[in-house]
Amino acid sequence: MTVRDIAARKVPGQGAAQPVVCITAYTAPMARFMDKHVDLLLVGDSLGMVVYGLETTLGVTLDMMIAHGKAVVRGSTQACVIVDMPFGSYQASPADAFKACARVMAETGCAGVKLEGGQEMAETIAFLTSRGIPVMGHVGLTPQSVHQLGGYRARGRTNTESDAIVSDGIAVAQAGAFAMVVEGTVEPVARTLTEAVDVPTIGIGASVHCDGQIIVAEDILGLFGTFTPKFVKRYADLGAEVSDAVAAYADDVRARRFPGPEQVFGAKPKR
Ligand code: KIV
Repeated sequence: MTVRDIAARKVPGQGAAQPVVCITAYTAPMARFMDKHVDLLLVGDSLGMVVYGLETTLGVTLDMMIAHGKAVVRGSTQACVIVDMPFGSYQASPADAFKACARVMAETGCAGVKLEGGQEMAETIAFLTSRGIPVMGHVGLTPQSVHQLGGYRARGRTNTESDAIVSDGIAVAQAGAFAMVVEGTVEPVARTLTEAVDVPTIGIGASVHCDGQIIVAEDILGLFGTFTPKFVKRYADLGAEVSDAVAAYADDVRARRFPGPEQVFGAKPKR
């Protein structure tokens, strides 16, 4: 899948005939498991929390994103791999953003980058896309601005906030983004924005009225956190399975049942 294939899913004026299926991936083995089932793998900066145990995404660095981006590209064969730009790597100026994005594209081999922000990032998105860097936008709840937004609450409950999010999405699309994540918005905002733009909107906590969906893999697999946000559906409880499997291994080691004869290299029989 290329960024053009993703963008082409949405027929202007008609919406997406088939929803765009997206999920996060941070490692090569997880990318290998998920690749054939999805259209797009996002190396999200949510890896700061999910993999590194950080409180927010603000501590994620360009080097971290590049290392994980490389791993996911190695683990995938068909999905479109997009790498998130971390906080501080693209906001200062379009030229700074270009340098950081070019590094990510060249060093990981990904198909494009994602960056957060609306009208204030339009100039940068236009700068990048006109210089060969495909950009996925991200509007609504933008986690890198968590302190400014005052937390992770759903956005778009007031007219002012909802108008601003729709204007943000329109600005991002007009600047040349091939798609955009719409995060944590009330349903009418997602619906209005999806109808207003010709590129696919990819929702997370933004209702079914988007052209596609994205989710953090570890959230739906039961591998992250004890709290499940309202917008997450659990499809597996792998955390409990990991715990049970490691407990069984520990019991076997303590009881000297592991390694057993099948796991031992035999000595060559003497002639
Ligand atoms: O960082 C991330 O994983 C994301 C998705 C949740 C959209 O931005």
